Amino acid sequence: MSAGAERGSVFLEPATVLVHDSRGSGQFLLQLQAPRCAAAATPGSFVHLACGPGIPMRRPLSLLRAAAAAGRIELLYRVVGHGLQALTARRPGEVLSCLGPIGRGFKPRPERPRALLIGGGVGIPPLIFLAETLAADRGGNWQPLLLAGSEVPWPLATRPAALAVAGMPDAATHALTAIEERGVPNRLASRAGLPGCHDDHVTALAAHWLAGLSAAERAIVAIYACGPPLMLRAAASLARRYDLPCEVSLEERMACGVGGCAGCAVEVQTAAGPSMQRVCVDGPVFDATTVFG
Ligand SMILES: Cc1cc2nc3c(=O)[nH]c(=O)nc-3n(C[C@H](O)[C@H](O)[C@H](O)COP(=O)(O)OP(=O)(O)OC[C@H]3O[C@@H](n4cnc5c(N)ncnc54)[C@H](O)[C@@H]3O)c2cc1C
Ligand code: FES
Repeated sequence: MSAGAERGSVFLEPATVLVHDSRGSGQFLLQLQAPRCAAAATPGSFVHLACGPGIPMRRPLSLLRAAAAAGRIELLYRVVGHGLQALTARRPGEVLSCLGPIGRGFKPRPERPRALLIGGGVGIPPLIFLAETLAADRGGNWQPLLLAGSEVPWPLATRPAALAVAGMPDAATHALTAIEERGVPNRLASRAGLPGCHDDHVTALAAHWLAGLSAAERAIVAIYACGPPLMLRAAASLARRYDLPCEVSLEERMACGVGGCAGCAVEVQTAAGPSMQRVCVDGPVFDATTVFG
């Protein structure tokens, strides 16, 4: 595909690096000028990014934010291996090949405005995008709550929470500042002793909050989760316990990223029986019951 070619609503475009900040512990915030991607992005969709010379395979990264009018997208990533390590060297003004937005994102349910968003590690960015999108939808009566878990220092600033959330454990005192400033109450969990965090898994924090709700309050909750497989399984199990709808975003390893190689296929349960689906284009967001039963 040549630069500028498009595949449905997935665009291949040259994306100029605007900002590329180290946020500690191998984490980076990357802002790109990618107007076609920014205009079509939805929470849960991702880009497949060329990381630099000598790295033939693109790497998939979720959209953290997309500003359609300004033509900008933001990504937040943590280096795992040589591909993202190469990406860290890209400086403002350089141009990267960006394929996106890819995938089926979250489908929030208006009849369940209390959106419980559970994010773990590198799974937090798409939930920030979802939370901020819901908070900005003034007509929707949404009440998003973001619960985030990390075992490394937060890549975004935290502060003592300014937005109240009933039913939080005493130790969960801090929140991500920028997310609160966009109107989203949020609380943090970590087993690494990070200040102001609930000292347990983020799904335990979610369980604590859900247990404190009345049945009527729970009846308007839906869960959206992204993070490591064990975290997603725990979120799906919480949803089953309280009979709540739950969407999970899977972060499988990917090759082509556009549905052509089946390298990302996972087994999901459909009405017609088990079916192999491609995380890149059939997901990455799936109904939790189809993945975890
Ligand atoms: C849809 C999607 C969205 C994602 N969004 C983000 C995001 O917003 N921020 C972020 O930091 N990361 C995200 N990831 C994960 C990210 O793509 C991988 O961590 C990255 O590709 C690893 O590249 P690398 O060059 O650092 O490591 P590599 O050198 O490619 O791999 C190093 C090691 O990590 C393992 N590995 C690579 N990718 C994965 C994976 N997806 N899951 C488990 N193990 C893996 C490899 O087997 C290898 O052992 C996302 C993944 C997917 C599929
Ligand atoms: S990565 Fe090739 S089909 Fe999904």
